[in-house]
Amino acid sequence: MSLKNCQIIELPKIADPRGSTTFVENQKHIPFDIKRVYYTYDVPGGAERGGHAHKELKQLIIAMSGSFDITLDDGFQKKKFHLNRSYFGLYVCSMIWREIDNFSSGSVCMVLASEFYSEADYYREYEDFLRVVRGENS
Ligand code: TYD
Repeated sequence: MSLKNCQIIELPKIADPRGSTTFVENQKHIPFDIKRVYYTYDVPGGAERGGHAHKELKQLIIAMSGSFDITLDDGFQKKKFHLNRSYFGLYVCSMIWREIDNFSSGSVCMVLASEFYSEADYYREYEDFLRVVRGENS
């Protein structure tokens, strides 16, 4: 999997003087079925999240409130994204290392995920991830 498979997805936005509505449907706006939703909040200033890759999991990451930066890395190239609107999501395919930082005060990072939680799906050591994506022997 490469960074080329990861992109910002613009979600539908129904504007209304009473407030906007955005929605996400399986396989229509995102290329997977959602099995799990989780969100990170109360992030203290200067904190960094992520720092891992997933073997199978695909995700859409949305700044539901506030903003933060996500750096994606496929083992060969890195690309940084700034998320600050709740109608934009960053699609992250499997086998991509991610770091999330620069959280604004009160920000909420919501993730739509293709799989249930499984610690076995994580690469938590960057060196392990690099060895696999670069096809090196251990
Ligand atoms: P982790 O994915 O490492 O956090 P982040 O990428 O946001 O920095 O998850 C943080 C902790 O929460 C870790 O101990 C695993 C646990 N966790 C679950 O139990 N279930 C879940 O669905 C998620 C996302 C995390």
